[in-house]
Amino acid sequence: MGNVRVLAFYITICCIAFIVSKVIISFLLYQRWKRKHSIFQDSISVGKMVIFRSELMRCLTEDVFLKKTMKLTNKDILGSGGYGTVYKLTVNESIAFAVKRLNRGSEDRDKGFERELKAMGDIKHRNIVTLHGYFRSPQYNLLIYELMPNGSLDALLHGKSSNKMTLDWHSRYKIAVGAARGISYLHHDCIPHIIHRDIKSSNILLDDNMEARVSDFGLATLMEPDRTHVSTIVAGTFGYLAPEYYETGRATAKGDVYSFGVVLLELLTGKRPMDETFIEEGTKLVTWVKAVVDEKREEQAIDCNLDSCPVEEVNQVFYVALTCLESEPSKRPTMAEVLKMLEEIKSNKHVS
Ligand SMILES: Nc1ncnc2c1ncn2[C@@H]1O[C@H](COP(=O)(O)OP(=O)(O)OP(=O)(O)O)[C@@H](O)[C@H]1O
Ligand SMILES: [Mg+2]
Repeated sequence: MGNVRVLAFYITICCIAFIVSKVIISFLLYQRWKRKHSIFQDSISVGKMVIFRSELMRCLTEDVFLKKTMKLTNKDILGSGGYGTVYKLTVNESIAFAVKRLNRGSEDRDKGFERELKAMGDIKHRNIVTLHGYFRSPQYNLLIYELMPNGSLDALLHGKSSNKMTLDWHSRYKIAVGAARGISYLHHDCIPHIIHRDIKSSNILLDDNMEARVSDFGLATLMEPDRTHVSTIVAGTFGYLAPEYYETGRATAKGDVYSFGVVLLELLTGKRPMDETFIEEGTKLVTWVKAVVDEKREEQAIDCNLDSCPVEEVNQVFYVALTCLESEPSKRPTMAEVLKMLEEIKSNKHVS
């Protein structure tokens, strides 16, 4: 009887030891998994947060922001580009932001950083993505933007078919006018005037009403792009850059107008500016469309998803796009003129 008790005692001890060791191993594995998946480690707690004045931002204290940011994982990534990665930061069921993590530049470049960000935060316009604030830490700079629930125009036009909605002509026209209004505001109404330098379909985001919002203005002046992001040269993106930029390296408002012309062609044709089939044929979207329009074959260039669109309106937008894409910058319209021409198309006044 005594032996049975001793045996039972040892078996119980073994079972407890087994369970405890399993719990410890699971805990250690979980910690390792968390370390691997968490993007921001301890260093994030040392830093400075600046929130620009806004009603919405009352709910985002530094404490809440840091706690939520520390919990971000790869699953929260919305996308990445030449300057860093963008995460969706959810505060509660009804409030979320887009947080862009920028790698820290050199100290010299960083000196003007806060001044530039302050200027970007002052810009409020219905066609511009609002910058709500930023967080600076020794490792990262985080920019806190308004979240655009319908993603980018690039993803809508060229993204994977599974999560893609087809844009009809009315939506495309509305996006073209909204984006033109946003860029025109930066060029003409902001003091000092702002040249965007990186107009492209991935920098045109869509709010919950499918209204276009221009994003990332000012970033090209603020940041050195990541050299591994092959599409970006000094500033701007291949396929969107005006020809004179390759010679002078100088960003101008007319350079933005050219890039906007490329976006208009994307909306009309549904093709990327550097579509593989063009590269195989040694051409590019702009050259191809110019040739097609010269031969009055516009209908062959129209996106096949745009069945039953008003041909007259489409042809007028082709005309606006091609004036934006004039090789000689002085022949291009200003952004204010582009906006006027686009608005006149729907109000049935003819574009000359
Ligand atoms: N405010 C935002 N709301 C929702 N999604 C966003 C927001 N900002 C960016 N994104 C998403 O993140 C993606 C990556 O953005 P990011 O600006 O880093 O790269 P990019 O626009 O492709 O290139 P670049 O760095 O040259 O601007 C965008 O295509 C968009 O889908
Ligand atoms: Mg961008």
